[in-house]
Amino acid sequence: MASNAADRPRAGKITVVGAGFYGSTTAQRLAEYDIFDTVVLTDIIEGKPEGLALDLNQSRSIEGFETKVVGVTTTPEGGGYEAIAGSDIVIITAGLPRKPGMSRMDLLEVNAKIVRGVSENIAKHAPNAVVIVVSNPLDEMTALAQIATGFPRHRVLGQAGVLDTARFTHFVAEALGVPVKSVKTLTLGSHGDTMVPVPSQCTVDGRPLSELLSPEKIEELVVRTRNGGAEVVALLKTGSAYYAPSAAAARMARAIALDTREVLPVCAWVDGEYGISGVYLGVQAELGAGGVRSIVQTPLTDSELAALREAAEAVRAKQADVAGM
Ligand code: APR
Repeated sequence: MASNAADRPRAGKITVVGAGFYGSTTAQRLAEYDIFDTVVLTDIIEGKPEGLALDLNQSRSIEGFETKVVGVTTTPEGGGYEAIAGSDIVIITAGLPRKPGMSRMDLLEVNAKIVRGVSENIAKHAPNAVVIVVSNPLDEMTALAQIATGFPRHRVLGQAGVLDTARFTHFVAEALGVPVKSVKTLTLGSHGDTMVPVPSQCTVDGRPLSELLSPEKIEELVVRTRNGGAEVVALLKTGSAYYAPSAAAARMARAIALDTREVLPVCAWVDGEYGISGVYLGVQAELGAGGVRSIVQTPLTDSELAALREAAEAVRAKQADVAGM
């Protein structure tokens, strides 16, 4: 297995900032894809990224991947950031996770400081990178990362929709007792209270979800999806979800690295689509080299469109606040 893996083409460098649960599992998934030369993992806790990188590298012969993981301790002032130079993609996972009972918005101030500092260092040391933000509150941190890096908006995007749709898909598959691969779901809007599940675009083996589940049952699954992160937080008691979130972030990075042009739901800059302008919002976008290649508009019912516009206004106000943070 290892000799086949050694022959496989792999290229480029990707950095994961923050070696907590989300960052370390993301680094693992990226390394196991075996498509990158190097995965850099950083954190401000001395020795943690180096230790995790060593551990991950020691799994290479068992899992059969050749990608090298490099762990680097950084300082908030920018020490150690030389290691991210030349990164094609940087994923920001640095920041505090929620505790039970907290909303993502409760993290705003503390994570804004962290994300601003990280973003400024990325701009300095990896000025050509595509930045994927996962720190919460997601829509606001994505907007802040764009402001603080000064990167073109198509090169800064956030992870939310891939995770939210994966949660919705799981709940629908469980409710109907079907394989997850039979189910297609869609969520748009914010990664928070104004998440907009789009039942009109949900299908099971090509059949509309509304033919298979009652409106009440669909609404129940929508509510559970909207609270999907909080449900995990309440069970874990310390920290928030990371297996599904890291799968989502890694998947976006792969689409960009391999220039797949896949259409995925992500937090992206919206400029006129759906009659909405000037805001980072959860929408479908074509991902490939350089980040977001285009926003893909989905046919929506009147009520879904109204909910999306409402979500846009809610995050617009908050995104204006973070500009000064
Ligand atoms: N630079 C690099 N790493 C940092 C910085 C910084 N300036 N500040 C904090 N960190 C690191 C912490 O040291 C910690 O190791 O970020 C890591 C966060 O890890 P966890 O506490 O395990 O949190 P995690 O579950 O990984 O979530 C990270 O993603 O889903 C969101 O809400 C979640 O905002 C949170 C983020």
